Amino acid sequence: MQLIDGKSTAAQIKQEIAAEVEKMVAAGQKRPHLAAVLVGHDGGSETYVAAKVKACEVCGFKSSLIRFEDDVTEQQLLDTIAQLNADPDVDGFIVQLPLPKHIDEQKIIEAIDYRKDVDGFHPINVGRLSIGLPCFRSATPQGILTLLERYGVPTRGKHCVVIGRSNIVGKPVAMMLMQKGNPGNCTVTVCHSATQNLKDITRQADILIAAIGSPEFVKEDMVKDGVTIIDVGTTRLPSTATKSGWKLHGDVDFEHVAPHCAFITPVPGGVGPMTIVSLMKNTLLAAQHAIYK
Ligand code: GUN
Repeated sequence: MQLIDGKSTAAQIKQEIAAEVEKMVAAGQKRPHLAAVLVGHDGGSETYVAAKVKACEVCGFKSSLIRFEDDVTEQQLLDTIAQLNADPDVDGFIVQLPLPKHIDEQKIIEAIDYRKDVDGFHPINVGRLSIGLPCFRSATPQGILTLLERYGVPTRGKHCVVIGRSNIVGKPVAMMLMQKGNPGNCTVTVCHSATQNLKDITRQADILIAAIGSPEFVKEDMVKDGVTIIDVGTTRLPSTATKSGWKLHGDVDFEHVAPHCAFITPVPGGVGPMTIVSLMKNTLLAAQHAIYK
């Protein structure tokens, strides 16, 4: 069993990005600039946005954080998005999800200029991904592909089973892995809450991607020997053993499943850091006008 170390892979890629940024600056270009919009004080969102701001520093990017309280109106958010769309200094920006219930998340996503949508959530980017055109690719799935590539996990002709059909992870990772290319060329099965005989399907997986948000859902009897497992779960559960009072739980019963794996990602330190680094990469591409002129 080999542990896929997302933390060290992400650190290495951030150094690669930082080196590229210094070259750009030496050539007279401006530093890439990522802006983030954060609404409210959800613990997970706070942690992720803080990590994104920190990653910008490491990569040599400029970053801006725009905060609102939970009672922000949809119109206030739309106005902020219009300003960010029009600001030539901002290369890309994100609106951290989830948003409060009174705000239409899809309306917010669609208000973002797709050329600055470094999260890859806008329907234009999603649509372009689905037909294999250059686009901003959603950060978590892109981070998963980078891990598979850097660890030399073969994908061509392999059966990849994805558990979870979210717009942010399940659907786009299935799309990316079925496409031609390396990583890619997988036979992909997407399972979800209505799937019957789930265990029969997951036991066929050469690569199993768990993205359901249900702690320790994947048990030993659901995998075959030699499987590669990517655990996307990040559920916070109360814990007396940590200073923060909570502990992050993946979607995989790591202790019992890991001995059966060829490769497996831990939680934390697996997919999470790679999501952030993929966002940095997208911001660099935005600053370089590498995808949209
Ligand atoms: N919430 C959970 N994951 C993400 C992400 O990748 N981007 C944004 N904007 N919100 C999220």
